[in-house]
Parts: sequence; structure tokens; C-alpha cells
Amino acid sequence: MSERVIPLVDHRSRTLVASVPSSAIAPTGLLADSLGRPLRDLRISVTDRCNFRCSYCMPKEVFDKDYPYLPHSALLSFEEITRVARQFVAHGVQKIRLTGGEPLLRKNIEILIEQLAALRTVEGRPLDITLTTNGSLLERKAAALKAAGLQRVTVSLDGLDDTVFRSMNDVDFPVADVLRGIEAAQAAGLGPIKVNMVVKRGTNDHEILPMARHFRGTGVVLRFIEYMDVGATNGWRMDEVMPSAEVVQLIHQQLPLVQLEPSATGETAERWGYADGQGEIGVISSVTQAFCGDCNRARLSTEGKVYLCLFANQGHDLKPLVRGNASDAELASAIAAIWQGRSDRYSQLRASLPPDASTGGRRVEMSYIGG
Ligand code: GTP
Ligand code: 5AD
Ligand code: SF4
Ligand code: SF4
Repeated sequence: MSERVIPLVDHRSRTLVASVPSSAIAPTGLLADSLGRPLRDLRISVTDRCNFRCSYCMPKEVFDKDYPYLPHSALLSFEEITRVARQFVAHGVQKIRLTGGEPLLRKNIEILIEQLAALRTVEGRPLDITLTTNGSLLERKAAALKAAGLQRVTVSLDGLDDTVFRSMNDVDFPVADVLRGIEAAQAAGLGPIKVNMVVKRGTNDHEILPMARHFRGTGVVLRFIEYMDVGATNGWRMDEVMPSAEVVQLIHQQLPLVQLEPSATGETAERWGYADGQGEIGVISSVTQAFCGDCNRARLSTEGKVYLCLFANQGHDLKPLVRGNASDAELASAIAAIWQGRSDRYSQLRASLPPDASTGGRRVEMSYIGG
């Protein structure tokens, strides 16, 4: 086995300051990148902090008490986030996902949700507004989130066995509290609820079947995620990736599955249904079966940088425009120029790249731009 090397350096990446193009690019809802991919999904990170230390995301050795998290003054305010989101929506975004770190750690997040829920798509419809959480604060917050206009939540949960779960979150957090959070979200009507399980071979692959049995027939959509080489601190190794094909096979042998049609273009998950009609699962196979071909996702960091790929090594900083005197039209033009210049498709290229190469620089951390 090769040695695990975890570099102890800052997680933030190179930055390009976003600029306003000389000729305006008016929003039409039909923006496409250089590979013809539309812009549909905006993921907004609202904090770079988390109360968990999952080894695949925020390993303790790196994210310790001396870690330089963003100061509060660097974070976009809710008004600033909503203003930026409004321009993205004018270019065609239909879904907004709030992420972190752990987004429920951001104070008064309900206020941001209320502001985003008031936005309308180009066609005049409400947005699909969702949030990814580790579930630790969900029991307390589910009802308020729903009241603010959140439609659904996705909860990260890597196993049901308390010992396994406590060791994966690495802060000794009990699984029972997350399960109560999921129940509270169900009771509040934040559905369809999705549960995301990152599978690491040798760590929690024995939890796949118990998880499938637990959520089968509950209306919760359980999704198995291939452990990815995202960021630069998790010491990723290919031998810890369990290909989705193996996950499907394992479940199918016990609980027969049939493949389902995708529910939307550009979806991350391949869908499988229980043959007896007891619901569905999903597999997200970024490592073994890249889905960059119709990737329609943009990411906005807590401090206002746009990232065009989960594996990007540079962001496009909108903050100088947001905090300067740029008009909405100028901000929209700047966003359009960024998306039009996009050619990212890291997962597709991964196979032909040298390790840790991406496009030639340090990759951004997932705790900083969100999943
Ligand atoms: P739904 O709208 O609920 O289906 O959400 P989603 O699957 O689009 O988003 P979610 O954040 O739940 O994605 C699940 C996981 O898939 C993330 O935690 C990532 O591990 C992975 N993922 C999401 N988007 C991308 C992407 O653009 N590229 C890659 N490589 N992985 C992604
Ligand atoms: N590989 C796959 N998914 C990851 N996530 C974080 N780090 C990784 C990784 N290395 C995803 C998980 C988690 C969400 C917040 O981010 O799905 O639920
Ligand atoms: Fe926190 Fe989610 Fe990262 Fe775990 S995966 S450390 S819960 S942001
Ligand atoms: Fe999109 Fe990059 Fe993920 Fe490919 S690797 S699906 S381009 S975010």
C-alpha cells in the first residue's frame, strides 16, 4: 500500500478577479458554456466551517484549531448572496442548493432561504431550493427551514452502526441524533428526502446493506457516492473507492433492483428501483463513470468566488463587483462571461491526468465550495 500524504497548507485556491465584459451579455435564460452545457444548478456555500471532521472531507490533522477559516467580514451577506443568485437565475438556474461546510451552522440561515424562495425562474416558477446537511442540527431546525420556504433536504449519513458513524465523523457524534433529524425533516414535509452515503472500501462498505434495508420503504432516497479525489487533503487512494457497479450488485443479490430512467438531464445519480416497488436508491459514480458531459452546476463560495467544477483550482471572484459599484446588468454580464468560458470536465479527464494534476494547481476543498 502506498503511503498517505496529507499536505498541511491552505485550502483556498488561485483567484481570478471577475471582470465585466466590454459588450454586455443580457440574460436570456439560455446561457451555455464552451461545450454547449446550460447553467441550471447553483450551489451556494454559506460557511466553510463544520462541526464534523469526516476524514474524506475535513481531516482533523488539517482542519484543527489553528486552521485559517474565513473571517466573518469575508463572507457574503444574505443580501449579497441573493443579489448574485438573482443574476444566476436570470441566466437559467432552476435549482439552488445551500451547502457548507455545514450550512445549518450559519446564523439565521432561514432569512437567506426566505430571500431565495422569493426568486422566480425565467419561466416564472419558484426555484427548487434544497440544502445538504450532516443532520446534526436538523431535529432542532427542520420546522423553521420548511416555514422559510425550503422544499427539501439531503442528509449525509455514512452508516447506521454507531461505532462506525462516530469514527467516520471523527467527533464522536451519535448516529441516533442524525436519524432523529431525518425523522424531523420528514415530519416537517421537507421531502423527498435524500440520504447521501460516501462509500469507502474497508471503512463502511459493510454498512451498505443495513442502510439499504433501513431506508427501503420509507420514502427516503438513499444514494451511494463513490469516494472522490476531491480537494488535496483527504489522502485519497483508488483502492478505497468501491465502484457503484459493485454496490448495485451487492444490493441486487439481496433486494432485487431494476434500473429507472433519469428524472432530469445532467443528474448526478443513476437511479435504481426496488423490484417490489419499495422505493428507489441512487448511485453517484464520479470516479468510474464520469457525468461531466451534461454538467450544469456552478458553485459560489462563501466569500463570493465562482467555481466551475468541483475539482477546480481557481475561482472567479465576484466580490469586487458585488462590493464595488457594478450594476445588476454588469454583474450578470460578468457571470455570463465566466460561464461561457467554461470547459471543465475533470472527472472525464481524470483517467488521463497525472495524480493531483487537475488543471495544474492546488484543488479547492469540498468543505470550502460544498458538494
Ligand atoms: P439532487 O437534486 O437532490 O439529485 O442533488 P444532486 O445529486 O445534484 O446533489 P448532491 O449535492 O446531493 O450530490 C451528491 C453528491 O454527488 C455530492 O455530495 C458529491 O459527492 C457528488 N457530486 C455532486 N455534484 C457533482 C459534480 O458536479 N461533480 C462530481 N464529480 N460530483 C458531484
Ligand atoms: N468524495 C465523495 N463525496 C464527498 N463529499 C465530501 N467529500 C467527499 C469525497 N471525498 C460529499 C458527501 C457529503 C457532502 C457534504 O459532500 O456527499 O455528504
Ligand atoms: Fe462536514 Fe459534510 Fe465535510 Fe463531513 S462531509 S466534514 S459533515 S461538510
Ligand atoms: Fe461537473 Fe466537474 Fe463534476 Fe465533471 S467533475 S461533473 S465538470 S463538477
